[in-house]
Amino acid sequence: MYLQSLTVVAALGLVGFTIASSNGAATLGTDPVAMTSAPTSNATLERGKLMFNISCSPCHGADGSGNGPIEVNLRNSPRDLRRGIYLNRSTASGQLPTDYDLYRTITSGIHNTAMPPFKAMAPGDRWSIVQYIKMFSSRFADSTEYPLDVLNVGAEVLPSPQSLAKGRTLYLQMQCANCHGIRGQGDGPAAGTHVDDFGNQIMPTDLTNLSNFKFGRSALDIFRIFSTGLNGTPMPSYAQTLSETDRWHLANYVWSLQNTDQYMDGAGADSILMAHGSK
Ligand code: HEC
Ligand code: HEC
Repeated sequence: MYLQSLTVVAALGLVGFTIASSNGAATLGTDPVAMTSAPTSNATLERGKLMFNISCSPCHGADGSGNGPIEVNLRNSPRDLRRGIYLNRSTASGQLPTDYDLYRTITSGIHNTAMPPFKAMAPGDRWSIVQYIKMFSSRFADSTEYPLDVLNVGAEVLPSPQSLAKGRTLYLQMQCANCHGIRGQGDGPAAGTHVDDFGNQIMPTDLTNLSNFKFGRSALDIFRIFSTGLNGTPMPSYAQTLSETDRWHLANYVWSLQNTDQYMDGAGADSILMAHGSK
């Protein structure tokens, strides 16, 4: 289905399009603060509109409503950008994304959905599109939405057997397993009971399968995702419930679930699960 939609897009003559895998997710550390409030000129918006109409409107519609001509072919429908609800953010639960968050989504695409990465598009054009798509939702012009509370990631904790074991304990304590399952395979008791804010049935991610992730490519991405939550979905925010250090342990553990060979001197997540009596 994914490849099929890519073919449709390619046939539409999409510019700046690449099939490269989306593993180049930028880190929060490179987030240029100045970019979160870049001044917008009319020329930028004009350029953004042009590029959006060429590259994005086939799916998102010229009006941003998500009703572009190829919408009917897609499993996850293109987002209605007029809602101002964004999954992929570095900001507190419920808040708008920063400009850089939008830039990252456009650059990396949304893996495992029809939304392609636009790595090959000129950076300036990607920035213009960011400014243009903010015009679709009045939330971005509402002063009460600001300031944005951008996530603090604290001091990174490197993975170690101790960190993974602590992460496993937190995973169970925080009841991640209720949705993601005791082994992280997306099959917890609550799986299959959720609908997202856009009316799609939504399943918890299989955390053991990298290709099932939309955004997570590194422990830092995972830290960000469960810290901020994914607005519009049942995936909650844990920034208020866990310390930064504990969130690093949890991120290391979740990341290890899909990178089993890289940890524990060759003994992977299976051994951790066994050690914790879950297997
Ligand atoms: C082939 C269809 C397709 C094209 C082309 C496309 N998108 Fe998307 N887009 C999607 C789909 C499908 C989703 C919803 C994915 C999901 O289910 O989370 C989406 C979601 C998004 C989101 C929401 C991200 C979030 O954090 O919630 C943004 C922003 C976005 N697209 C912007 C763009 C921009 C800008 C372009 C052009 C540069 C573009 N898209 C091109 C299909 C497309
Ligand atoms: C109420 C159910 C629920 C709970 C509890 C929950 N999640 Fe999720 N989680 C989801 C759903 C649903 C998604 C898929 C969202 C999507 O596909 O847009 C998700 C997605 C994710 C993702 C993948 C994001 C990506 O890149 O696609 C990670 C990582 C994650 N959750 C980690 C956790 C962790 C860690 C915990 C516990 C601290 C947790 N979740 C608790 C429902 C839940």
